[in-house]
Amino acid sequence: MQKKSMKRILVTGGAGFIGSHLCERLLSEGNDVICVDNYFTGSKDNIRHLLNNHNFELVRHDVTSPYSAEVDEIYNLACPASPPYYQYNPIKTMKTSIYGAMNMLGLAKRVKAKILQASTSEVYGDPAVHPQVESYWGNVNPIGIRSCYDEGKRAAETLFMDYHRQNNVRIKIIRIFNTYGPRMNSNDGRVVSNFIVQALHGEDITIYGTGTQTRSFQYVDDLIEAMLRMMATEDSFIGPVNVGNPGEFTMLELAQKIIDLTNSRSKIVFLPLPGDDPKQRQPDITLAKEKLGGWEPSIKLEEGLKKTIEYFKTL
Ligand SMILES: NC(=O)c1ccc[n+]([C@@H]2O[C@H](COP(=O)([O-])OP(=O)(O)OC[C@H]3O[C@@H](n4cnc5c(N)ncnc54)[C@H](O)[C@@H]3O)[C@@H](O)[C@H]2O)c1
Repeated sequence: MQKKSMKRILVTGGAGFIGSHLCERLLSEGNDVICVDNYFTGSKDNIRHLLNNHNFELVRHDVTSPYSAEVDEIYNLACPASPPYYQYNPIKTMKTSIYGAMNMLGLAKRVKAKILQASTSEVYGDPAVHPQVESYWGNVNPIGIRSCYDEGKRAAETLFMDYHRQNNVRIKIIRIFNTYGPRMNSNDGRVVSNFIVQALHGEDITIYGTGTQTRSFQYVDDLIEAMLRMMATEDSFIGPVNVGNPGEFTMLELAQKIIDLTNSRSKIVFLPLPGDDPKQRQPDITLAKEKLGGWEPSIKLEEGLKKTIEYFKTL
């Protein structure tokens, strides 16, 4: 028998970077967690330390097929998140976003679970509004090499909204901005992990374009806090809500910071920009602050980078 206060929670993509931190936090709060993953980009190594916990269950499953379990809450994270992986099989990426959302929404409907979608700042595309507010509809290329991810995530948001309007499913949508931290995949081409690995190996640090394009970086613990707060909001608040760190840095500043923190001898080199790379991305988090009990990122870039660098040193 489950304890009364204990919730049974399904996390899809739970063996990934963000999912593993989420599983860890949900378990630490006394919940029963089912982690579903097909290990496309995730790894058992990310959750190995949780396997002895009796409240943790690990299921190898692909969310493009239906899955069933009696749960109170679902966090839908399953989806490759970095360009080399989501472009490896773009049709599969779309299927994961769309069939995955439909299968999880169908489950939420049947078992009356609350369901949270891990959407993305990529729904804003190359934004004409800066910083991005939730009411901005975005500037997305529907036929480019990033579209399988961007449009897949946009379609998933549509499905969430329609299951809510048509079937009263209790949904929550968060739009996650660039997040980094321990257990990021070391070779998935994301900028923070790329720079750290290059700096630790003393290799050239590659910047695409001139390095003046900006990004904002959120440490993973800040994101997890926002996810739990979002799930706990009253049913009438469904989002979408931006979750990210508005502190903006150029790629050049980030590279220099990482070189300093690792005492690296690496030099910075410049390569041509890949297709559809957004020039600027920064969240407006006014709504998150208002609706998520005053939530705002609390971990400074330097502090988060130090923890991430420590993790990469252990690999
Ligand atoms: N990391 C970021 O900066 C960021 C930003 C915006 C949105 N997100 C979203 O957050 C979620 C988690 O991202 P992450 O950075 O942890 O990436 P990740 O690649 O580490 O995690 C994704 C997980 O989903 C699993 N997965 C992929 N396809 C699957 C399928 N068909 N069936 C079952 N499992 C599948 C992978 O094996 C992996 O464990 C993703 O949905 C991503 O789009 C992440």
